[in-house]
Amino acid sequence: MKGNLERLINPTIIFLDCRRKLEYRERTHARTGGTQDLLAARQQCYQVRHHAAPSFISKTEIITKLGKSPPHQTQMAKQPDTRLKDQNGQTILVREFKLEDKAEVHRIFHEGLMEMVPDTAFRGLRHHPESLLLYTAVTVVCFAITMCCWLIGLLPAIVVCMRYFYSRRVMGGYLKQAMSADMGDMEGHYMKTPGSCLWVAELEGKVVGAVAAVRLSDNVVELLRMCVDRSYRRCGVGVVLGQKVLQFAEAHRYASVVLGTTAYAPAAHQLYKRLGFHCVGVTNGYVTPGSSRSFLEQIFYRCLKIHSKAD
Ligand SMILES: CC(C)(COP(=O)(O)OP(=O)(O)OC[C@H]1O[C@@H](n2cnc3c(N)ncnc32)[C@H](O)[C@@H]1OP(=O)(O)O)[C@@H](O)C(=O)NCCC(=O)NCCS
Repeated sequence: MKGNLERLINPTIIFLDCRRKLEYRERTHARTGGTQDLLAARQQCYQVRHHAAPSFISKTEIITKLGKSPPHQTQMAKQPDTRLKDQNGQTILVREFKLEDKAEVHRIFHEGLMEMVPDTAFRGLRHHPESLLLYTAVTVVCFAITMCCWLIGLLPAIVVCMRYFYSRRVMGGYLKQAMSADMGDMEGHYMKTPGSCLWVAELEGKVVGAVAAVRLSDNVVELLRMCVDRSYRRCGVGVVLGQKVLQFAEAHRYASVVLGTTAYAPAAHQLYKRLGFHCVGVTNGYVTPGSSRSFLEQIFYRCLKIHSKAD
């Protein structure tokens, strides 16, 4: 029993009650559990492991507090998989990437990237008053020249379409660029490079998310490619993946973890804040890899990048 309990308190485990999960997702999309103290975690895991899950347990979450994971013996030791199986519940397993995961990781990455298109095109405008000013100025000039009301009425629709078109084009270019670099050879870029790694999260035997860590220097590692399958969001997968990177950073004695995200991804910002990241800078007019920087693209696509760090 002691052995079982020791296995159950492995740090980054989120344990979902299968029967309650759908109901839970539909009802609130909110978490009933939270970071729990060791004793409560032990008790709940013990209950779930050895008995039918009590009806009040819809989700049991065990998360190591940031920076509190046990010190690792060897600097470059591989991190163990995080796994817990039970006939009453589902397990989120976070493990290192294998070649057979490639197709699923590509799909999740592709979908995650493409869903940023409308956010960048439309919501993004809020973050770019300079673009709004430009569009307004063009509208006024057009009106002054043509005095044509229907043309002026049409301009906002044209701007919206152009923004969508160019956001999509840049994301497509970014995807292409990523596929010809790290995402095309994940094994070589992450698994065979010391100090870097790529993990996948598995739920119900299916790959539902991924995250990578890449060594930037002796002291700094970057968290990137964080993405979770749309149908499995708000289940804690993002937190578990993020925690894995933080544990990895600690095990490899990195002083800090950095990441960059666009300003138009509120879910990602909340997630990273929750993981202990804070903003250390912004780049307005960030040149997205894969963009062509053509004149029209610069008018209809602008990127505000937020740089964050966790020490
Ligand atoms: C960002 C992302 C990885 C989050 O994954 P997830 O598995 O849904 O995250 P979790 O369930 O672990 O949520 C952790 C916390 O993040 C925040 N969060 C997640 N989704 C959110 C949303 N849609 N709106 C607001 N906050 C959100 C919440 O604070 C949440 O904690 P809570 O559920 O206790 O409130 C996921 O939404 C995603 O893949 N998005 C598209 C790709 C992307 O933006 N990647 C980041 C690029 S840098």
